[in-house]
Amino acid sequence: MRTIWWDAEIHTVKMIDQRLLPGRLEIAQYDDYRDVARAITEMVIRGAPAIGAAGAYGMVLAARQSPAQDRDGLLRDLRQAKAVLDAARPTAVNLSWATDRLLRLAERLTDALADELRSALLAEAERLAEEDIAINRRMGAYGATVVSHGAHILHHCNTGSLATVDYGTALGVVRAAHEQGKQIHVWVDETRPRLQGARLTAWELMQAGIPMTLIADNAAGHLMRIGKVDIVLFGADRVAANGDVANKIGTYKLAVCAKENGIPCYAVVPTSTIDLSLPDGDHIPIEERDPEEVTTIGGVRIAPEGVPVYNPAFDVTPYRYITGIITEEGIAYPPFRESLRRLKEAAEKRIWSGR
Ligand code: MRU
Repeated sequence: MRTIWWDAEIHTVKMIDQRLLPGRLEIAQYDDYRDVARAITEMVIRGAPAIGAAGAYGMVLAARQSPAQDRDGLLRDLRQAKAVLDAARPTAVNLSWATDRLLRLAERLTDALADELRSALLAEAERLAEEDIAINRRMGAYGATVVSHGAHILHHCNTGSLATVDYGTALGVVRAAHEQGKQIHVWVDETRPRLQGARLTAWELMQAGIPMTLIADNAAGHLMRIGKVDIVLFGADRVAANGDVANKIGTYKLAVCAKENGIPCYAVVPTSTIDLSLPDGDHIPIEERDPEEVTTIGGVRIAPEGVPVYNPAFDVTPYRYITGIITEEGIAYPPFRESLRRLKEAAEKRIWSGR
């Protein structure tokens, strides 16, 4: 199931509206990059690699919307669009990584006419989206090597097809292990406040026929202590150069608890999520979202009117709690500063070599 795609007949980007799942499966469509930015902010589409793909298609739309007749004018409009798209959500670095990749391509094609650039940008966005699927499958294959037969996996948030273009990061590892016949079972954290686990991960796993049980977030520690969890898997929105991992709020608590109980804990990320420009997790911007996400569930108010609320959407897990970071180029182990740089360089070479 693909989360986002380009409709070439009507020159429009289409995506599953994830706010409505699991109740309704509806497709949203956009032909204005500013609407794509809004869709990212409002979480019509969410999950780091998926919003990267949305950012790339947003750049394609921006190029089509630009009235520029020459390359310089088009580049100016693309830079403006990139700033709007990048600001849509601050924590997932995949967004600016993807818009940067499209802008860099346009800047490299010094002899191209404006319309040739527009076509090249669409081809690049399609390529990025296709690569995302292939990358997830490679991560799945690497990741499945650390999942043993019969393992009980604890999973946080949604990292599946919906969070990527298709297949998934941490849920991609789950899918790969299941496809290999390993008879795994997944404990699915509900993931308050937006319930990506209960709404999206449970839906995906049930569709795929992968054994799972939904738990309240607060049950995770109990399950770890009584020996019901063999491995903890989650995705990430940004990984700093030292291996600190920013992911959905609640991840830190899980990782600390896993270490306390001697349970291996892996982040599963495409190399596009690794940000070597930041020395550690303290430099990762943490998004704060609307208090209403905490005071309501499914539109029903659960807290008193006017209650003060703090709603950080992500937290940072220091590298010492992470056993390994699974990427499409292999699994990084400590010391992460070296292993992550090696894997990131290999991926950059793969993208740009021969162009
Ligand atoms: O706020 P969300 O739903 O976009 O957060 C998503 C996550 O935290 C995922 O774990 C992360 O993006 C990695 S998923 C491929």
